[in-house]
Parts: sequence; C-alpha cells; structure tokens
Amino acid sequence: MQVSVQDLAASYGGPVVLSDVTFDVEEGERIGVLGPNGGGKSTLFRVLLGELRPLRGSFQRPSRLGFVPQTERSRLDYPVSALDVALMGTLSRLAWWRPVGRRERRAALAALERVGLTALADEQFGELSGGQRQRVLVARALVQDAPVLLLDEPFSGVDRTSADLLERLLDDLAAEGRGLLLATHDLEQARRFDRVLCLNRRQIAFGPPEETLTRAVLEETYGGEIVALPGAAAAVLPPHHHEHD
Ligand SMILES: Nc1ncnc2c1ncn2[C@@H]1O[C@H](COP(=O)(O)OP(=O)(O)OP(=O)(O)O)[C@@H](O)[C@H]1O
Ligand SMILES: [Mg+2]
Repeated sequence: MQVSVQDLAASYGGPVVLSDVTFDVEEGERIGVLGPNGGGKSTLFRVLLGELRPLRGSFQRPSRLGFVPQTERSRLDYPVSALDVALMGTLSRLAWWRPVGRRERRAALAALERVGLTALADEQFGELSGGQRQRVLVARALVQDAPVLLLDEPFSGVDRTSADLLERLLDDLAAEGRGLLLATHDLEQARRFDRVLCLNRRQIAFGPPEETLTRAVLEETYGGEIVALPGAAAAVLPPHHHEHD
C-alpha cells in the first residue's frame, strides 16, 4: 500500500471542512478525487502534503510526494522559464552545496519532453498559456520522481490534445507502479480510473467507479449540480468553476 488514510478530518481553524475520510492507494493505482467546488479535494491534498495538520485521524504516505497544484495558486509573476520550473523538481534531492548540474537539466528536459513541451523550454513560465503551464507543472512533478503523485485538477484549462497526452502519460506513470491521486471535475475521465473518492465536505463513497458512481452517490456528492444527459448516466455542471467546459 502506498497511501493509507484513516478517519481523517480537517479544518482551517473554523468549521470542519472535511471529515470521515478513509481510503488507501495501492501501487500503480489511479484514484479520481471527485467533489463540488469547496468539497475538500485540495484540503485533502494539503493534509497529505503536510501543509495542514489533520483535526482527527491519521495517514501513512511515502516520504516523497510529487505535487501538481491547482492552477490559480501557482504564481506567475516571477521571471523563470519553463525549464527553470521543471528544474525545481530536482531541488529537494540536491545537496545544498551542489549547483544544479547537467544531470538535473537532463532530467528536467526529459520531463518537458514527456509532456510535449521541449520546444518551449526557454519560454517564460508566466507567458505560457494556462494549459502549457499545467503541463510544465506536471513535468516538475515528474522530475520529483516520487512513488505517489497528487494532481489537483491537472486538466483544467488544458485542450483536448494536451489532455489526451497527459492522460496517456498518467497511465504510463501508473504502469511504472506509481500511485496517482487526481482531483477532477470530469466524471467521464473518472470512470476510466481504478477507484474514485467522492467528497462533499465529508467522504461520500470510495471504490471502483462502476460500483461507486451511482446516481445516489453522485447526488450526494454534487447536490443540485447534477444533470441528466441523453446517453450518459449523469454529467456534472460545475457552475462556479474556472475555465471549465
Ligand atoms: N486557506 C483556507 N482558509 C480557510 N478556509 C479554506 C481555506 N482553503 C479552503 N478553505 C475552505 O475549505 C473548504 C474546502 O475547500 P477546498 O479548496 O478543499 O475545496 P475543493 O474541493 O478543492 O474545491 P475546488 O473544486 O473549487 O478546487 C471550502 O469551504 C473552503 O472555503
Ligand atoms: Mg481545489
């Protein structure tokens, strides 16, 4: 088991924003984390990253985690290139006295290649499109070479072609035995994952998508945001969401 969470609850000092969270991540497993805006997806990641101390419960995780933050939280205003951002993924492994060397540059360039951005390595990060920045952040997480990756809505603002590329990449990473926790608003995508974790301020359900994503669970997870689509079981309208279609 790569990650294990028992009866976790979290708050930011005020009301409890997430509770009853119990799940695990096996090697090579892709887990979709579903829930409405404010459902607690990013909060769960923050707890797992050690940025927020849980109110209750406990969890086990590997010492190294790769992390792709939700887009609007990444700062855009400092003058760094795409390659610089990818290189940041090597920093935690470098001894303090060692400058970034050829090996790290190679790893960062290889990661940029895996996300299809070799040509943009020297562009300013802040001048890239939203989707390209997402891919750079995925490259940075790749460079971290961690056994488990947390990806907070990595597909948001990413065009179809890049999304397909990213999804294939994630499949490859899972095939390498890495566990992936991926927050998403895309139910169709979540159906392709191994298991789904449904959050709406507390854990609603956890299990394989075909058993778990029932109408009842979806209604409890998304409340009034559920709509029926002809041909599809259900789709979700995230009404307040940024750049989502
Ligand atoms: N830094 C913070 N301080 C106080 N409350 C916060 C903070 N960050 C998040 N919250 C609250 O915690 C709850 C869960 O938020 P969280 O960001 O985890 O949701 P989310 O599922 O990631 O939503 P989204 O889909 O919009 O990204 C919300 O009610 C939010 O207002
Ligand atoms: Mg979030």
